[in-house]
Amino acid sequence: MPSVHVVWDPVVRLFHWINLATFLGLAGLGLLLGAGGSIGLSAEGRLAILRLHVAIGYVFAGNLALRLIWAWIGGRHARWSAILPFRGGFLRHLRAYLAGLRHGRAPLYLGHNPMGRLMVTALFAALTIQGLSGLVLAGTDLYQPPFGSRIAAAVAAPGVDPAALVPGDRSLVDADAYRAMRDWRAPVKESHETLFYLLLLLVAGHLAGVVVTEIAERAGLVSAMIHGRKSLSGPAADGMP
Ligand code: HEM
Repeated sequence: MPSVHVVWDPVVRLFHWINLATFLGLAGLGLLLGAGGSIGLSAEGRLAILRLHVAIGYVFAGNLALRLIWAWIGGRHARWSAILPFRGGFLRHLRAYLAGLRHGRAPLYLGHNPMGRLMVTALFAALTIQGLSGLVLAGTDLYQPPFGSRIAAAVAAPGVDPAALVPGDRSLVDADAYRAMRDWRAPVKESHETLFYLLLLLVAGHLAGVVVTEIAERAGLVSAMIHGRKSLSGPAADGMP
């Protein structure tokens, strides 16, 4: 008879689905931005898509920031100690898990299994860098918070109120300062684009991991992210000490 355990708290579950929804929106709109001219987008159309991408980006970044803070103060399975692969005898757990997988009897876990911990760490790192680079680009492209006012102050032409700058309009900026800004912006933009493709790979790996684990364990992983409860057919390797 499987035992049922409350594993994911409401903050983790809410974070997960907001993250998925915003990621899909950002990726879809980002693809349109990247395709730009080749799909016949006008300058106004591109700006409207960019503004929407950034608006969703704030929801994404706020949600992610709350989750990262929750990893210090949230429930047992939401914490860094249950995620980062440096603590709690992680390598010992990983070796036992991989050996168990080879024999078709991988140890069961209430929270993330060791492979899941590696995946979640990589996803959090990539999402955080993606969010930060996006916030910088929101400043360079739209003069929006949190960096926009400093960037506007740096590129505004002498005597021009930085708050009067309009995205895309070069008539009010100092040409040299603007060029210098575009120079340091280029690698940020490149990393935002490259990380997008890396994130697609990580998300594919995350989905594959969920499917494989679910087939092996039948713990109800997907519904656990909805109601919080996992059902285990034996003792958990991360059970109470
Ligand atoms: C996981 C989250 C995100 C994904 C998957 C994503 C994806 C993308 C993609 C694919 C592009 C097009 C790059 C190109 O031109 O080829 C893009 C551009 C952009 N993103 Fe994001 N983004 C994310 C988060 C954010 C956030 C949080 C913000 C800001 C709040 C943001 C702001 C921007 C801006 C301003 C651009 C325009 C860069 C340009 O001028 O081309 N992004 N994003």
